[in-house]
Amino acid sequence: MSLRSLLLDKLPSEKLALLPKGFEVIGDIAIINIPPILDGEKYVIAEALSIQRKDIKTVLRKLNKIEGSARVADFERLLGNRTTTLHRENGCIFELDVTKAFFSGKMYYERGRIAQKVKEGEDVLVLFAGVGPFLVPIKKKKNVNITGLDNNREACSFLRKNLELNNIEANIILGDARNMNNLFRIGFDRIVMPAPYGQDFFLNMAQSILKSGGCVHFYTFKKDFEIPHFRKILEEKGWHIDFSRDCGDVAPRVKRYVFDLS
Ligand SMILES: C[S@@+](CC[C@H](N)C(=O)[O-])C[C@H]1O[C@@H](n2cnc3c(N)ncnc32)[C@H](O)[C@@H]1O
Repeated sequence: MSLRSLLLDKLPSEKLALLPKGFEVIGDIAIINIPPILDGEKYVIAEALSIQRKDIKTVLRKLNKIEGSARVADFERLLGNRTTTLHRENGCIFELDVTKAFFSGKMYYERGRIAQKVKEGEDVLVLFAGVGPFLVPIKKKKNVNITGLDNNREACSFLRKNLELNNIEANIILGDARNMNNLFRIGFDRIVMPAPYGQDFFLNMAQSILKSGGCVHFYTFKKDFEIPHFRKILEEKGWHIDFSRDCGDVAPRVKRYVFDLS
């Protein structure tokens, strides 16, 4: 249900028109973008949301774009007093604090798709692992040796907790992906890389820790018109593109794409 339809009888039509169409729900926390022009209405909006959606206990207003290496936004708390929640996705459970570690539920389909593709017995590396939305379902569904790496201490600590919550084991490393070539002496059959915005260079680094015949699931942010050129670059670097898809909008005209490469 859209934010506008939830607020039909609370705001006049000229103000409804200024609302963003959607909002994100992580566990029992709703995250909304309220433009400054609707400052005076922010609490009305939050309350209406929690009345209409009984599953929502906290409403946060996103104050800025996701920035910094931890990829966490700043929030204003409009309703409720917790920023930690339990989120369910792909048959797994995730505990996280949305103000301390990046999480978006928009990628749940991709995470399920990758977990399906993984083969039993593989050595798998998940870079930029966050609180574990790729890693946990893979290990829950497949008997693999799996390693997760993230440079956000809080994300790694929630990831360790999420291993326990889902009764699985994995090797978790708090570290910078820029050091991946020193960190890993063994090669991997499969590397999952939801790379941060504008950091495609990590793909070149991953090439040297991939076993022969291995594959990479590489996530990148691009505008539609950049894709043909990017495909050409990948092929020039020796990658075979087994599959690619548009995983949805992240900003005006910018989309997240996945490339399955071998
Ligand atoms: C876009 S988030 C993806 C998180 C998670 N995989 C997901 O899909 O929700 C990027 C993650 O990469 C981590 N990160 C950013 N730069 C990094 C780096 N240089 N080395 C290791 N982790 C990094 C951030 O802490 C964040 O958790």
